[in-house]
Amino acid sequence: LTRERYPVRRLPFSTVSKQDLAAFERIVPGGVVTDPEALQAPNVDWLRTLRGCSKVLLRPRTSEEVSHILRHCHERNLAVNPQGGNTGMVGGSVPVFDEIILSTARMNRVLSFHSVSGGLRPGGAEPVCGGTGLHHAAGLRSQGQLPHRGKRGNQRWRPAVSSIWLTAWDCPGPGSGCPGFAEVLQTFSTCKGMLGEILSAFEFMDAVCMQLVGRHLHLASPVQESPFYVLIETSGSNAGHDAEKLGHFLEHALGSGLVTDGTMATDQRKVKMLWALRERITEALSRDGYVYKYDLSLPVERLYDIVTDLRARLGPHAKHVVGYGHLGDGNLHLNVTAEAFSPSLLAALEPHVYEWTAGQQGSVSAEHGVGFRKRDVLGYSKPPGALQLMQQLKALLDPKGILNPYKTLPSQA
Ligand code: MLT
Ligand code: ZN
Repeated sequence: LTRERYPVRRLPFSTVSKQDLAAFERIVPGGVVTDPEALQAPNVDWLRTLRGCSKVLLRPRTSEEVSHILRHCHERNLAVNPQGGNTGMVGGSVPVFDEIILSTARMNRVLSFHSVSGGLRPGGAEPVCGGTGLHHAAGLRSQGQLPHRGKRGNQRWRPAVSSIWLTAWDCPGPGSGCPGFAEVLQTFSTCKGMLGEILSAFEFMDAVCMQLVGRHLHLASPVQESPFYVLIETSGSNAGHDAEKLGHFLEHALGSGLVTDGTMATDQRKVKMLWALRERITEALSRDGYVYKYDLSLPVERLYDIVTDLRARLGPHAKHVVGYGHLGDGNLHLNVTAEAFSPSLLAALEPHVYEWTAGQQGSVSAEHGVGFRKRDVLGYSKPPGALQLMQQLKALLDPKGILNPYKTLPSQA
């Protein structure tokens, strides 16, 4: 575990007493974990760069149990850190100090599924989709009151049909300095025009990502080597219609010369194989060394400029500088790897990356959230008034500030 030092002080919350443990045992019989060995993993984040020192983990099964736990914690001024899969990228899911870990692992039952509306009611929480079950289980229940039931969350629906296509771009002439990202963008706009309503993903990754996935995970690229790769997915309701449209697009893209190679998948095995190349980049980066991660929203035309800029700026100080992400959302995952954490490399990256992003009116957190890592840079993409409002809203729902303290909101605001 590589540990960074953060200048954070423990807030004056209570510490868990024998009486608290007895109370928790009454609320969740058999769901109170205090074994230090069992507490190791939930104290460490997925990237293995942050570590808390919680001594208690609770495993409720129902909203009522969560409610009772939170009522007790509120009365006793005990801080609580909710935790789901603990796969977060910004340290939002692990305790900073000794916060009680409230695990949702046992809230995994589907209580009801409405086939007409597509609404799902998991684990005793509110009807939610897309892993947002924690919102009500934690956010609104600091005083142990259950929010009004029956409200529908946003329901995201994803059809099962999908075909994907992986493409490669050629660099127009060695040493020309053109990275080919312009062609990626051109293909993106053509793609939107031709696949419109059935397009469900447009992902890109650069050559270094593909090399790292090959080196660390032994995944082979099914297309020829190239500066950029794109993964396109469609999810229409008629597979034949999807394939026909994708076929036209493929023909057009190859014919126009923007794309040098491509492969298409409709069977699940190959679909999975292509997605693995893109989805496992994070894992490959983690095996490459210490990772500095940035999750930025940027205007697509400027999206890759920061990657090129950083390669020049960092030179040999960085092991690798890579760019990949959800181009369809204007979301760049900018990652820098090094042999180990180094304060001087951090100083070369920050605040430069954030200032650059602010200069593009971008956002310092696109999809990973703010958590522990990004809370003090939120000001680069939110005005002071918005931060104040966020603080006020949080105080309204969580007057003692016991819910996931040290996260999301800036330490000074
Ligand atoms: C991804 O898009 O692969 C995930 O957000 C994880 C990451 O950014 O590393
Ligand atoms: Zn992502």
